[in-house]
Amino acid sequence: MSSKIKLDYERVIAPIDPRIFGGFLEHMGRAIYEGIYDPASPLSGQDGIRPDVLAALKELGPTIVRYPGGNFLSGYHWQDGVGPRSQRPSRRDLAWSSVESNHFGTNEFMDYSKRAGWQPMLGVNMGTGTIEEAGALVEYCNAKGGSHYADLRVSHGYAQPHGVKTWCLGNEMDGPWQIGHLEADEYGRKAREAAKIMRWHDPSIELVLCGSSGIAMPTFPEWDRTALEICWDQVNYLSMHFYANNNANDTASYLALTGQLEAFVDTLEGTLRYVKAKTRSKHDVFLSWDEWNVWYKNMEMNGNWTQAPHLIEEVYNLEDALVVAQWMSVFLRRSQVLKMACLAQLVNVIAPILTRRDGMVKQTIYYPFQLFRRFAKGAALDVLCQAPTYETAQFGAAPLLDVSASYDAESGASAVFIVNRSQQESEPVEIEWQNGAPGKSAHVYQIAGGDPKVANTFEQPNAVVTADLGEVALDGKKLSLRLPPLSFTVVSAG
Ligand code: AHR
Repeated sequence: MSSKIKLDYERVIAPIDPRIFGGFLEHMGRAIYEGIYDPASPLSGQDGIRPDVLAALKELGPTIVRYPGGNFLSGYHWQDGVGPRSQRPSRRDLAWSSVESNHFGTNEFMDYSKRAGWQPMLGVNMGTGTIEEAGALVEYCNAKGGSHYADLRVSHGYAQPHGVKTWCLGNEMDGPWQIGHLEADEYGRKAREAAKIMRWHDPSIELVLCGSSGIAMPTFPEWDRTALEICWDQVNYLSMHFYANNNANDTASYLALTGQLEAFVDTLEGTLRYVKAKTRSKHDVFLSWDEWNVWYKNMEMNGNWTQAPHLIEEVYNLEDALVVAQWMSVFLRRSQVLKMACLAQLVNVIAPILTRRDGMVKQTIYYPFQLFRRFAKGAALDVLCQAPTYETAQFGAAPLLDVSASYDAESGASAVFIVNRSQQESEPVEIEWQNGAPGKSAHVYQIAGGDPKVANTFEQPNAVVTADLGEVALDGKKLSLRLPPLSFTVVSAG
């Protein structure tokens, strides 16, 4: 018996906000220096930008990128990173015990964002920073001129405002590890006052409030409720962060993690509803999952006061790629409340791209992200999936297949995203388009392999890549496939 997947174009969850395909670049390790910017690399041009990395990022296609941190943000004074490079101070970065040259800063990030084709999402320092400094950055970036900080930008060679729309009110302020960590009510009040000043400078901006740094935080979800109650009408999004691990080396459970990811969203969605009701507000706040990824193998976070140290350069394998694929399906299945998400991070630091001075490699997780970005368009569908279950030590019985789907009414294109969680068995599946055949055939792409631990390396860069399986004929409005074990399949039709 085949598993069954049924798509009904009228059974819509919500429009897919393209900003769920975002990324994150922090001044940490070799993300910026030796990652996207490396004047010492033989591959870089005059501007120090690595063209191969830029090309790979463009191919990956993040729609919005969060910058400059991360924990780094909570000790960062943005004025250190603007103006003539020769006058920028080198400073100690207390978040990662590193030295920050400030050779790359806000304006360089804006230039890079333009070239890469993504929208910038800037953070303001709510740790050691003041609310005035936060407002000054909005003026520097978004005001036309005729006042101090706007004129400062003009004097730095940027006559036109950068027009940054999305701003984060700090980073992980619930975490005791954060520079200048605050209790929820203290943070709420500081964030609210910063938000007021930032909006006075530019009323068109949208703001992201720090939510919990993870589902395991002892203050979750009380932190979120408290901060939201204080800031509700001033903010547009609540952030959530989560890093997945397979510390137990239990692949069966690891591949069934999505239940926990959905529970995280569902709890916060309930918190949003509660606070909206309690504050008697007509205003809505949505979720921004602005740090998410697998991270557990490389925990090196001490830079020993050097510049661009090798920090958390996680190497990703096939099972990680399958977790990333399912995580993105969670984004589609929760698209009614989740409007932004940022893969943390993009280059070298827990990233889909790893660089050396003379080359780069696309890690396994690069490929599922790229497939979702390319094919998940329009609206997310509430898919019917009938599949057998399997036993896991951590989560009990879990469905063998993890499925999401999208339909773009404008182009008529639909896409189905399926992970077969089985480690041994292939699974026959029948996909039915209930509104009629989307054409004579569908195009199939697949990431698969026999070994969950196989990774892409400089020596073997293509161990896990997307295979283009070409067109597969439909039988009326149905398509039959056999999904290999440990696989991610994308079916694109119409
Ligand atoms: O992405 C690495 C770090 O993880 C970020 O700086 C921080 O926000 C999170 O704890």
